[in-house]
Amino acid sequence: MRRPFIAGNWKMHKTNSEAAEMVRELVNLVQGVDDVDIAICAPATALSTINELVDNTNVALGAENMFWKEEGAYTGEISPLMLKDVGCEYVTLGHSERREYFEETDEEVNKKVKAALKHEIKPIICVGETLEEKEAGETKEKVKSQVLNALSDVDSNNLAIITIAYEPIWAIGTGESATAEDANEVIKYIRNVLSNEFGDVADQMRIQYGGSVKPHNIAEFMETSDIDGALVGSASLEAQSFAEIAKFSS
Ligand code: G3H
Repeated sequence: MRRPFIAGNWKMHKTNSEAAEMVRELVNLVQGVDDVDIAICAPATALSTINELVDNTNVALGAENMFWKEEGAYTGEISPLMLKDVGCEYVTLGHSERREYFEETDEEVNKKVKAALKHEIKPIICVGETLEEKEAGETKEKVKSQVLNALSDVDSNNLAIITIAYEPIWAIGTGESATAEDANEVIKYIRNVLSNEFGDVADQMRIQYGGSVKPHNIAEFMETSDIDGALVGSASLEAQSFAEIAKFSS
């Protein structure tokens, strides 16, 4: 069966020294928690520092974004080769904040997914609806198109290492999470979409919930039938709360 997966997304937070302090504490707190995969997705500037601190621990490293080209005249961008070089196992792609503030399209997310897979970096693909789409009853339609577009022309042999993070945009950073029941229903639907499109491999693909996950509500999500873990924003910035979420999920 699928192993639970808790990933933190620090977004644009933490200098190198702050990152080092938090990760040192986290590594101690989650030592021996071995029935859940734990990852920190951090700003590019902190990846190298964190990589040294998580070596030989049960905490994996991820990036928050990546360009699809390997190298070249793309000022300010970071390539899959660079992420591999600093020890990244994961990369979050298509986060709603990238889609909203940097106008990232489904097509670009798809290119990034394929580039990550080519370099054996495991994508965490973020999908989710706005409040307006939710109120208009368009949630399923929206997540279906985001998922299928992100996975367009992806080699099916690579699908099992992909994680989908269902993050309703209205629940991100608001303190107002989806109910576990509603999140589970959408996640079950995403798994059906994956299964209809790709067959049995859908059972191996992990689907997380994200949006105001905290130590006090993680258990509700993990008790559902289809939610495999969480993509955690603000509660991942503090070692104690992120460790509690990881422990509750194991
Ligand atoms: O990637 C993480 C999500 O955007 C959730 O953020 O836990 O602060 O709501 P949040």
